[in-house]
Amino acid sequence: MRISIGSDHAGFEQKEQLKAHLEQQGFGVIDRGPTSDARVDYPDFAALVADDVVAHDADFGVLVCGTGIGMAIAANKVHGIRAVNIVREDFAVLSREHNDANVITLSGRFVSFEENSRILDAFLATSFGEGRHAGRVAKMMALEG
Ligand code: RB5
Repeated sequence: MRISIGSDHAGFEQKEQLKAHLEQQGFGVIDRGPTSDARVDYPDFAALVADDVVAHDADFGVLVCGTGIGMAIAANKVHGIRAVNIVREDFAVLSREHNDANVITLSGRFVSFEENSRILDAFLATSFGEGRHAGRVAKMMALEG
């Protein structure tokens, strides 16, 4: 499985830690930057990761900013993206089972690396539930126009 990951300056440290965490587990990781904690604009990195997912260069995207909120709003502007801002493990599971989320956005400032790594592991380990959820996801995506 291939994961595209990116952050802004506020998420940079955890982006580096989460990248190593994923590589240790054998995931292929595409690091879309940044390469330092110098101030940047989160929509630029949300776009790079979202494009990887839509192009099927990555199975999932991971984005880290201060809260994860700006990254989610930005990534969801890209057609085909279902980005979720997650701060608890059970919501990570439900976002995959019910919503077929394909990008997870995390908080580098308010959630620890240890908690974010548990959240990310749960997200990646959970499959879409299909069944009754499939039609609802199709209706969500039809809202893109
Ligand atoms: C940067 O200061 C901060 O606004 C950004 O990391 C993110 O939290 C936005 O949603």
